[in-house]
Amino acid sequence: MLGVRKAVFPVAGIDTSFLPATKASPKEMLPVIDKPLIQYAVEEAIGAGITELIFVTGRGKRVIEDHFDRSYEVEHVLRARGRQNLVELVQSIKPANVECVYVRQAEPLGLGHAVLCAEKLIGDEPFAVVLADDLLDGKPPVLAQMVHIFSHYDSSVLAVEEFESWESTSHGVIDGRHWDERVISVSRIIEKPTPELAPSSFGVAGRYVLMPSIFHHLRALKPDANGEIELTPAIHSMREEEQVLAYEFVGKRYDCGTKLGYVQATVDFALRHAELQETFDAWLRERMGAAQLDAWAAGSMLSQPAPVAPGLAH
Ligand code: UTP
Repeated sequence: MLGVRKAVFPVAGIDTSFLPATKASPKEMLPVIDKPLIQYAVEEAIGAGITELIFVTGRGKRVIEDHFDRSYEVEHVLRARGRQNLVELVQSIKPANVECVYVRQAEPLGLGHAVLCAEKLIGDEPFAVVLADDLLDGKPPVLAQMVHIFSHYDSSVLAVEEFESWESTSHGVIDGRHWDERVISVSRIIEKPTPELAPSSFGVAGRYVLMPSIFHHLRALKPDANGEIELTPAIHSMREEEQVLAYEFVGKRYDCGTKLGYVQATVDFALRHAELQETFDAWLRERMGAAQLDAWAAGSMLSQPAPVAPGLAH
């Protein structure tokens, strides 16, 4: 059995949730503290033993290529200023044994279509799909946990977690029965059902380890009502021919495709960031203390507008 060596990072979406920030720059480059989302995703994949990173890019995504490329000017300037530690930091973004490959999705025709764009680069071997706007914090990395399950059962694996029922409309939701600890044999998967139609409370998080047979299911799909080819119906169709497993991963998921999830990730990561930990923790406590006092006195301080410097009010 072939191991999982390749991961696809679909980064060609239109990114409407973070406009205007994402008008000219991809949401995958939004930083959580000092690292872009895509770098967290790549580090997770490397932690799972992946050595070939396939980015499905689109218009305005060149900056992702630059991020994983050498920057001789930056390195030169840092060296001239004696900042060797920073030279090493920028060089470590892409380890030497890891290869980056780019393929373009000419139009954002859906996640399934984006994965299909990588077919020739994948060939006939299992591969991972990693959606960088789901930031998954796990030890071992969530994708490494999934690769372990994949190797054990020799079946495609979807990362799932339990959602509140109102969240069903933003995820693929599975039906199935427990197979092993944290492992569910999938009988059905539905894309973004209403809470009434959701077959369970297990929704798919943005990680997949897929058999290459997914490609013939993707190719057979007709575009949906929005003209898009989604990944979920292809997985559903694949499930009719072979076993597909869902794995309840160990770790925490931050939905950085939403503003709330992005802010939550920023706060949690700041609270354990070597440089920020102490000062941010102290600031947050002071702020929450002050907010509670103010809330008691006159409604929520957090909802009040920032003070305006004298003379600048208009
Ligand atoms: P989303 O459903 O989050 O869509 O895509 P989006 O357009 O990027 O984002 P919003 O909701 O409008 O802000 C899930 C993932 O699939 C990629 C996206 O880049 C994202 O990582 N994707 C989606 C593609 O690569 N191509 C597509 O045609 C659609």
